[in-house]
Amino acid sequence: MKRRVGALVLAAGKGTRMFSERPKVLKTLLGQPMLAYVHQALAPLFGDRVLTVVGHGAEEVRRAFPESEGRFALQAEQRGTGHALATALPALVEAGIEDCLIINGDTPLVRTETLSGFLETVRETFDLAFLSITLPDPGAYGRVVRDQSGRLAGIVEAKDYDPDRYGPPSGEINTGVYFCRLSAVTRLISGLRDDNKSGEYYLTDLVGLGLAAGIKVAAVNRGQDPDLLGVNSPLELVAAEESLRATIVAGHLARGVLIRSGATTRIGPLVEIAPGAEISGPCEIYGRTRIEAEARVGANVFIRDAVIGRGAEVLPFSHLEGAELGALAKAGPFARLRPGARLGQDARVGNFVEVKNSLLRAGVKAGHLSYLGDADIGAGTNIGAGTITCNYDGVRKHKTVIGQGAFIGSNTALVAPVTVGSGALVGAGSVITADVPENMLAVGRGRQKNLPRRKKPA
Ligand code: UD1
Ligand code: CA
Repeated sequence: MKRRVGALVLAAGKGTRMFSERPKVLKTLLGQPMLAYVHQALAPLFGDRVLTVVGHGAEEVRRAFPESEGRFALQAEQRGTGHALATALPALVEAGIEDCLIINGDTPLVRTETLSGFLETVRETFDLAFLSITLPDPGAYGRVVRDQSGRLAGIVEAKDYDPDRYGPPSGEINTGVYFCRLSAVTRLISGLRDDNKSGEYYLTDLVGLGLAAGIKVAAVNRGQDPDLLGVNSPLELVAAEESLRATIVAGHLARGVLIRSGATTRIGPLVEIAPGAEISGPCEIYGRTRIEAEARVGANVFIRDAVIGRGAEVLPFSHLEGAELGALAKAGPFARLRPGARLGQDARVGNFVEVKNSLLRAGVKAGHLSYLGDADIGAGTNIGAGTITCNYDGVRKHKTVIGQGAFIGSNTALVAPVTVGSGALVGAGSVITADVPENMLAVGRGRQKNLPRRKKPA
């Protein structure tokens, strides 16, 4: 019978070399935390049998991954990667996991196929294995040590590497991806010592211990694969992010998305763009955004978790988050669409218009300088420049409902809750505090008086 397989992600470390209080695994690449990439690479292989060790900033990390709740192990004191594994063991056993893939949480570019290939290679034959790569300079990574005949002898951390003892480093390094048959490895863990330069329990010492104990240990070399590099510093983070960015842009271009200034275009890994859409860099498109065919996104635009419908257009300098543009709708230049902003077919929102949690039905036009919050605006209605929905009374948010084919004059304040009927006309400069029935003209402002001047102008 096959042993039950699961994965363990080590994500408790502080990330000292990042020089930031924020847990390193929450640092983002293309708008998404490092740890999310690792989880996404593991999901197809392990489903929900993925446990994550958290410690530094544990609460913050857990909050960022609500879908993983119940699958965290707490390493309250971070005493090294070996200690992290020891801390998680009871939870792994409880989850019934017998064969475990272990991966550092700071390996965001790792690919599912690399992991499945590794598992396939080692799972039946070995008790303990890890993926190695070969670099021109092993830098601060753990170094793979082999004997004269090339047989694996252990992993020695960079800080503890003594060239007099081990010779010049070969460039082969440990990637921080391991396979463990827990029944064989568990009893070695108590043999780990922290008498090294970092004063930590190194998971990597299990390799030497395993070899000494006579279990089956292997290093699987992946050549120069840069996707297996750990990310420890800002320099390494932007290098990884840039490599991913270029790959994603090239992928969209190859599938028929027209991307101008691709070198300055940042598209997240989960963004979907239909062939035939046009994007102009510099711009940032993140989250679960979907851009449909013939849509156009101009330069200097920021988009997160939005839907840009067929043939719709986002003009330069617009900022969209959690918004939806229907077919042929237009936003910008300088539009701000916040969560729940929904533009129907052919609706238009112009410069310095902010929309939040509002439905602008087909053909609505709000051309200039407005705030539309918690509103439902009927088809074809025109919103004059400077219209404000006063949706907040200091305690609660209230709704503004406007029918179809209405006309709201410029500089109108709509004090919610309020309803303006279909076909109604609101005079410019009005403060509307009471409902306006259909097809009526409402004027809510002081009447203009023209009075004779006291003194004639000079
Ligand atoms: C580690 C390896 C090194 C390897 C490199 C690959 C060890 C001792 N060294 O070094 O051989 O070349 O990764 O990138 O494992 N963590 C915990 N608890 C702790 C300490 C760390 O969960 O107490 C987590 C971190 O959050 C991180 C991962 O383990 O995601 C690796 O820790 P890190 O300090 O980055 O190890 P490296 O020095 O990079
Ligand atoms: Ca690391």
